Amino acid sequence: MKTEILPVSENSIIKAAGLLRNGEAVAFPTETVYGLGANGLDGTAVERIFTAKGRPQDNPLILHVSRQSEVTPLVKSIPEDAKRLMNAFWPGPLTLVLEAEDVVPLIVRAGLPTVAVRCPENEWARRLVARCGFPLAAPSANLSGRPSPTTATAVYEDMKGRIPLILDGGACRVGLESTVLTLCDGPPKVLRPGGVTPEMIAQVVGRAEVDGSALRELGANERAASPGMKYRHYAPKAAVTVVGGNTEAVAEKIRALYDEAKAAGRNPAVLARAENLPLYGGRDAHALGAAGSIESVGGALFETLRLVDAEGRTDVFAEAVEPKGFGLAVMNRLLRAAGFNYIQV
Ligand code: TXA
Ligand code: MG
Repeated sequence: MKTEILPVSENSIIKAAGLLRNGEAVAFPTETVYGLGANGLDGTAVERIFTAKGRPQDNPLILHVSRQSEVTPLVKSIPEDAKRLMNAFWPGPLTLVLEAEDVVPLIVRAGLPTVAVRCPENEWARRLVARCGFPLAAPSANLSGRPSPTTATAVYEDMKGRIPLILDGGACRVGLESTVLTLCDGPPKVLRPGGVTPEMIAQVVGRAEVDGSALRELGANERAASPGMKYRHYAPKAAVTVVGGNTEAVAEKIRALYDEAKAAGRNPAVLARAENLPLYGGRDAHALGAAGSIESVGGALFETLRLVDAEGRTDVFAEAVEPKGFGLAVMNRLLRAAGFNYIQV
């Protein structure tokens, strides 16, 4: 299959909607990462997504809507807290898990009684959904296990020959996937941290718990509240080590690890905040955002992980970030990329 990349526009959206109506899967931009969409009410169309990504079928998908009112037929009810959160953060990077209505195919929700819904901030994404007239089931448009794509080029790397069309909307604003929040399991609980932080959620509904899987690996007998969290996600080919502590001590540790790897004939790289690059003098280092802006670190993370793969790095040593606010989402993805290989100095 030939994979076309078209700049997102009124015309390319008409073409994409036509393909989607025919049961095809199409990649499109959102403010978080690129999505791989299919008709979310058609189980056969949704199967294409799993095939194209090589995704395990026990990992449920998010239904994307163009406006709040489109959620009503998909769920049993919309609790007060959900209404408040939709009013506060939609359109935007917040996914809500609610009790599913029977129209939602089992393949979308991996057999669960619940369904995840989100209204993306990206206007083109909403226009695409509106033109289709059905919700789009859409996971990130990467091959399963690869970092999520934040540019059309990254989507092409993974999806070339697997899907007919990629809509190119430039780089994604947030760069990390949406916050997944369940309202079906006691107090509101963040299953996957993202651009809407627990602090922001608590301001609207009074409280927000964070699932234990946010910053640590699940034990062998623990059930994943969000099935996606049990997979070793976001993994580059290199072995990643995350080092946390004060800046000077972290740099000293990373320099030692880097030099050791180099001496062993390996091909290491450092990921550091731009301001800290001089601390790694002479060593191969990439800027991963700027110290004053955690948003810039999150925004650059997946592209940088793809870059170190393209460079054939064998080892990557990354500075940790403080897991507060949006930093929780950044650290969640970094630790997963590292297979939870973390050193505190
Ligand atoms: O930002 C995003 O959310 C992107 C863009 C494309 O919108 N999509 C995305 O989809 O990240 P995906 O499939 O890569 O991640 C969906 C996450 C997974 O962790 C999955 O386990 C969780 O949402 N999820 C979906 N349905 C769920 C449900 N019914 N209960 C609990 N978790 C659910
Ligand atoms: Mg994903």
